[in-house]
Amino acid sequence: MCKNLYIKTWGCQINKYDSDKIISYLFNSSKKYFLVDSWLKANIIILNTCSVRKKAEYKLYSYLNEIKEFKKKNNSIVVIVCGCIASKEKDKLFSKWKVIDIICGTQNIKNISFLIDNFYKNKKKIIDVNFSENIEKNIFYLNKDNNYLHNTFVTIMEGCNNFCSYCVVPYTRGKQISRSPENIIYEIKYLVSKGICEVNLLGQNVNSYISYLSNGKKCNFSYLLNLISEIDGIKRIKFTSSHPLDFKKDVILCYKNIPKIVDYLHLPVQSGSDRILNIMRRNYNIKYYKNIIYKLLNIRPNILFSTDFIVGFPSEKECDFKLTLDLIKEIKFDNSYVFIYSPRKGTKSYSIKDDISMLIKKKRLNKIQSLLNKNSIYWSKKMLKTNQKVLVEGYAKRNNYYYGRCFNNKIVYFKSNRYNLIGKIIDIKILENKNSSLYGFIL
Ligand code: SAM
Ligand code: SF4
Ligand code: F3S
Repeated sequence: MCKNLYIKTWGCQINKYDSDKIISYLFNSSKKYFLVDSWLKANIIILNTCSVRKKAEYKLYSYLNEIKEFKKKNNSIVVIVCGCIASKEKDKLFSKWKVIDIICGTQNIKNISFLIDNFYKNKKKIIDVNFSENIEKNIFYLNKDNNYLHNTFVTIMEGCNNFCSYCVVPYTRGKQISRSPENIIYEIKYLVSKGICEVNLLGQNVNSYISYLSNGKKCNFSYLLNLISEIDGIKRIKFTSSHPLDFKKDVILCYKNIPKIVDYLHLPVQSGSDRILNIMRRNYNIKYYKNIIYKLLNIRPNILFSTDFIVGFPSEKECDFKLTLDLIKEIKFDNSYVFIYSPRKGTKSYSIKDDISMLIKKKRLNKIQSLLNKNSIYWSKKMLKTNQKVLVEGYAKRNNYYYGRCFNNKIVYFKSNRYNLIGKIIDIKILENKNSSLYGFIL
């Protein structure tokens, strides 16, 4: 019998990608599933969770509270918790939440169909969260079934060995594992045959990628970028996230030798203060970080940078925060992410007193956000009257407006009566910057 399936995803791009995998595993199984847009219509509810900050965890708990009430009247629905909370909390979730039937960890989603079948057969709660011996086989898969138009993510590595003092990811995703280069190339070539022209390489720290070719030759991230750039049909290469520590000379040189790498880099810095970076265990200082930025600017004068910040880290004083503001003013980061520090049980910094008040944390967050907005407007204004190569991504809500991305990742809107522009790279002249959005016309 066909089962209605509802899947809710929280967290980063990697989790979104995992949800696509879950759907693909279930749809390729021998059972029939139908995706529904509300859990009220579902026979099976899958919650793919994030635990990077407390707020993300609370989102799961408030969902479970609602589902608990619903399940009292609909006892047959199956509730599955996947993702980072499943891997972090494991069977503790069962004791706190009777409503959960299946817990499936980040490295175990390949077994999802088996777990569901087993539950229906035996009507017994199941947990599958152990990190596997053969993780490559468990976490990497070929992206075959979706209808891609022009761009897609391709996972190249998973997990993290860095253990920054505040972060749960190494505990929820396990140690770093890189996918084989041949496997990655095979997937990208397949995607190109389906119309993809832009690839976004995905991983917790893509530039610490390290693997081997089948002839035994070592393949690091810069070598992989070179291999991918040789694929005909790939016009743009993006990647996310990178770690400053692994952003060495060879990766910087790729910006010179590989014109397909976009003029945009997301390079999380977290703080502008060396003292805080040290307690965060980031293993670099601001001089080192800026050195990467200026070397890249030297090769690509038009490159835009974005980053991640954590505000209110334990012991962050006004003078530390000022250093972060100074860095934002100097680098002029575009569209970046700012997070309020959230102490996470099991991490090193959990034992350090969370001594910055929420009021100060929020003030610092707002201050950074307003600076970042100014930066974004600054870059948009600089683009006025310039010609840009735009990869058309879709239709905007307003009639006849397309939107697409410039080579520096900025979004631009333009009007056209022409059909089938999506997926094409076209020349656009930027005309105006209205309400923080760029508008242009086809040249
Ligand atoms: N691997 C990437 C790196 O190190 O740059 C980032 C991955 S992490 C999932 C995404 C972002 O979440 C981090 O860059 C950091 O800013 C933020 N983050 C992680 N742990 C946090 C915590 N305990 N509190 C607040 N923000 C946190
Ligand atoms: Fe977390 Fe640090 Fe690893 Fe990024 S590098 S995932 S912040 S531990
Ligand atoms: Fe991503 Fe959240 Fe896990 S950011 S790796 S889903 S903890």
